[in-house]
Amino acid sequence: MTRREAWSPRALNERQQARRQLVRFLLQSPLIAATGILAPGLLLPRRALARPEFAVPETLDQVLDGFQMQRAAQKALDLETWHFIVNGADDQRTVEANRAAFDAWQLRVRRLVDVSRIDTSLKLLGQALSSPLVLAPVGAQQTIHAEGELATMRGASERGHLLIASTVTSSSIGAIRAAGTAPLWFQLYASPDQGLMRYLLAAAEAAGCLAVALTVDSPTRGNREGERWFARSATRQATGKGPPAMGNFAGYKGPARIGDPALTWAVVDWLRANTRLPILLKGIVTREDTELAVRAGVDGIIVSNHGGRQEESGRGTLECLPEVVAVTAGRIPVLMDGGIRRGTDIFKALALGATAVCVGRPYLYGLGAYGEKGVAKVLAILDSELQRTMQFAGTTSLAGITNAYLQRRPE
Ligand SMILES: Cc1cc2nc3c(=O)[nH]c(=O)nc-3n(C[C@H](O)[C@H](O)[C@H](O)COP(=O)(O)O)c2cc1C
Repeated sequence: MTRREAWSPRALNERQQARRQLVRFLLQSPLIAATGILAPGLLLPRRALARPEFAVPETLDQVLDGFQMQRAAQKALDLETWHFIVNGADDQRTVEANRAAFDAWQLRVRRLVDVSRIDTSLKLLGQALSSPLVLAPVGAQQTIHAEGELATMRGASERGHLLIASTVTSSSIGAIRAAGTAPLWFQLYASPDQGLMRYLLAAAEAAGCLAVALTVDSPTRGNREGERWFARSATRQATGKGPPAMGNFAGYKGPARIGDPALTWAVVDWLRANTRLPILLKGIVTREDTELAVRAGVDGIIVSNHGGRQEESGRGTLECLPEVVAVTAGRIPVLMDGGIRRGTDIFKALALGATAVCVGRPYLYGLGAYGEKGVAKVLAILDSELQRTMQFAGTTSLAGITNAYLQRRPE
């Protein structure tokens, strides 16, 4: 195998798969379990705990990066909740492609630039933000932490990060707004019931949301087998957990029918007629759909595959980003999400043309492990990692981050 082949996304994927298979094999082995050499909740030999990349922090202060927060969350959460967060569709190939896409790029850094002042501020749809890091919409957060989205809003507010609240949140959009000061958008799932969509849009407007992002990657539910497996498990029955609360539907007279497989581009005109908010489409991954979206007059795009939770064998969103920004050509903002775990990942997405980026799982790990403080800590870590990356690259503002700072990893 050449060096080029060894570092190709496919080879990276295959190595990851092989490592997983080995861990699965070890876990299933009664002999290994009997010896007790696997650390609880971590599935690694105890001596590995001495290494920071495997450490499970015991306190919030100890957490050094997003991966440590992930392990702290894994330790804190029951299996059902853990799988709700981490699961992807089918064999997780889209989840893996999201991560592998970042590894395919290396940084070309410049030297002898005055980087004593780093400015990560931007304007997004007219809103001033101090960071390009946005909290992606995630439903049912009370299954992760008792205070759910309210804790997330408080964590986001600590540092003024934009939060996109999901349609299917445990708390209502009004309650989320009241919990903090962070700028807020509303994510809308389509419904065959237009009355319900109007009801949700009215609630979002009344709560002072600044934009609505319609999720277009969910014509049906992704096949997340881990989530399905554990959702019917003994934990759910033992804890008597019912279906998660759905705060936005509380006052609606009628069934909350969410998801519409018959949805077409006509929805953009319908939305424009039914809301005064700027409209973004979340889930666009091709140039063809970007052309249609621009023609339909949307105000922004979120390049996303739902964190690999919907279609299997999708491309990494970072791979999709260039063809989207080639079409938008700076006319409308393009956000992207999927697999961002480090400041270098944010830098790479911005260099490939993203206006801003969203994270989903990283802040859920913070929420699961330490509530609102965990959310704020994850955001602070990612912000500081981005700033450090900018200093090393020799860029002092977001506008200065271009694809001249990237090179494809030689295959
Ligand atoms: C547990 C979970 C629930 C989610 N719920 C929603 C949702 O209600 N609406 C939505 O548009 N996207 C939802 N997403 C997708 C996220 O908005 C985002 O696209 C994705 O998490 C980004 O990938 P990342 O987790 O790798 O950062 C969810 C993601 C997760 C992990």
